[in-house]
This record gives sequence, C-alpha cells and structure tokens, in this order.
Amino acid sequence: MPTNDQTQSFRLGDRTVNRLGYGAMQLAGPGVFGPPRDREAAVAVLRAAVAAGVNHIDTSDFYGPHVTNQIIRAALSPYPDDLVIVTKIGARRGEDASWRPAFSADDLTRAVHDNLRHLGLEALDVVNLRIMFDVHGPAEGSIAAPLETLADLQRRGLVRHIGLSNVTAAQVREGRGIAEIVCVQNRYNIVHREDDALIDALAADGIAYVPFFPLGGFSPLQSATLSAVAERVGATPMQVALAWLLRRAPNILLIPGTSSVAHLRENLAAGAVQLADDDWAALDRIGVG
Ligand SMILES: NC(=O)c1ccc[n+]([C@@H]2O[C@H](COP(=O)([O-])OP(=O)(O)OC[C@H]3O[C@@H](n4cnc5c(N)ncnc54)[C@H](OP(=O)(O)O)[C@@H]3O)[C@@H](O)[C@H]2O)c1
Repeated sequence: MPTNDQTQSFRLGDRTVNRLGYGAMQLAGPGVFGPPRDREAAVAVLRAAVAAGVNHIDTSDFYGPHVTNQIIRAALSPYPDDLVIVTKIGARRGEDASWRPAFSADDLTRAVHDNLRHLGLEALDVVNLRIMFDVHGPAEGSIAAPLETLADLQRRGLVRHIGLSNVTAAQVREGRGIAEIVCVQNRYNIVHREDDALIDALAADGIAYVPFFPLGGFSPLQSATLSAVAERVGATPMQVALAWLLRRAPNILLIPGTSSVAHLRENLAAGAVQLADDDWAALDRIGVG
C-alpha cells in the first residue's frame, strides 16, 4: 500500500540517515571493474553528494575491486561525523570481471579487513552479507554459516551493524534469529515489485529496505506512464521513479548510483517531487498485474 509518510529520514542501525543517499558502484568504471576513466570526476561526485547533505553511501570492496573504496577514502576522509558508509561482503571478482561467491569464514574475514583498510576505518558502520546462491536474484538456502561468521566479526568490534542483500523473506527470518538485521538490500524499483510484501513486513518492524537498481541499474527504466507523469509534474522520469519509491514505504532508503554530478543533483532533487494520488495510482500499476 502507498504511504503518505514523506518523512525524509529513517533509522539505520543506531544512526538516522537522510532517505536520499548515494550508491557508489558506478564510480568503479565500466563493468564495475576499475579503474574509472576519470578518477577526479569520481571524487567530485562524492564530495558533491556529501556537500548536498547525503549521509548514507553504499559501497563494496568488490566494486573495482577495491577501487571504489579507495576513491571514497581519498574524497571524503576524514569522514564527516554523520556519514554512514554501508558496505557488502560475500563476493569476489574474477580476473575476467566475473562475480563469484566468497562465503567461507576466511573469505568473509578477509573482506571485512579489506574494507576497513581501503576505507581507512577502524570499524565498519553497516556490513551487508550479499547472498550469492544465484548472483542475479534471491534463491533459497540457509545463510546461517556465513551470517554466524559475520556476527562473530561484529562481536570483535570490527562491524557495528549487519544487513542482508539478495535474500528471500525466509532468509531474512532465519537471519533475524542469528543477528540483529538493520537493513535489507534487494533489487526493487517501480517495475520490479517482487519484494512488495517483504518491504511492508520490514517497515512494521522498523528495518530499513534499500532497493538496488532503483533506476533500473544496467537497463534504465523506461515506461510511457513514467514519462507522462514526469511531464505533468515538471520532473524527469528518473526523479519520478525515485519519488515513487520515497512514497512507497517510509523505510525505503534510496541509493541511486551515478558517475555524474548533474545526475546526482537531479536525483537528490527527487525529494521535492510531489505525486498526486491519481499519478501515484497510475505509477503503481506499472509493476503489478
Ligand atoms: N546488493 C547488490 O547486490 C547491489 C547490486 C547492484 C547495485 N547495488 C548498489 O545499489 C546502487 C544503485 O544501483 P545502480 O547504481 O547499479 O543502479 P541505478 O541507481 O538503478 O542506476 C544507475 C544508472 O542510472 C544512470 N543514472 C543515474 N542517475 C540518472 C539520471 N538522473 N538520469 C539518467 N540516468 C541516470 C547511471 O548512469 P550515470 O553514471 O551516467 O549517471 C547508471 O547507469 C549501486 O550504486 C550499489 O551501491 C547493490
């Protein structure tokens, strides 16, 4: 169900973040395999994001690999006090740029230390365990063993909060029995609505839901309805797609990715886009039925 709650912040672990954040994956370069063509431009995007009030940045050491975290550190360290950097572990990159599972206790421990070193931190704010049973989408199977390893790293003080990514509702239930889960990061956008019920359940429990590919990811969203509503409200289709997500549920935190300062500013301005109820209803029908 849509919500009229336009609150612009939400709890993430023990911090409160603005609902419009930033996803850093695009900074790694083509194929998320670094280095980027223009490192200074990547630094500029990160600094512009923080200057505009972004205090939630999503990253991973397997973007690049390592490159994105290194750029974040170069651009933003020493970090502002209110900045929450969320990273993810559970995968590694092959030399051919492939995405491979990396779930052993050694893999996960190494990944936490790599993130700490490349970001220049003593503890990671939030670490998402990225499940890789199927790289392209959630697939059932127990997540107990890797999550227990991550919970152990949390007890050692290296990780403050734990999230899950690319997971089913059953895996979220299993995970919450093992550790406190502060966020879930799955693919979701105005077209891909598989997580509708999960989002509402997490909202009821105060857990953040962070959709990846909010703009369609590698296949940008395209819809006649999106374009028509955008024209009517005087916004761009991407802004309307983000405004729809902001209104969809109060626990949705946005991390649209971009390598461009112009797109960054456009995306952050989506917070001011108001959708009338009939436009909301038309948009809501895009991804259902
Ligand atoms: N947990 C996971 O498995 C997982 C998977 C994928 C991503 N993620 C996270 O989610 C974040 C968001 O996902 P994403 O970056 O892949 O996809 P996205 O935010 O849906 O879309 C990014 C794409 O849209 C373009 N774009 C951004 N703003 C635009 C605008 N205003 N107008 C037109 N085009 C625009 C970007 O190109 P330009 O660079 O040219 O702007 C880029 O090609 C990532 O950065 C990453 O942190 C997590």
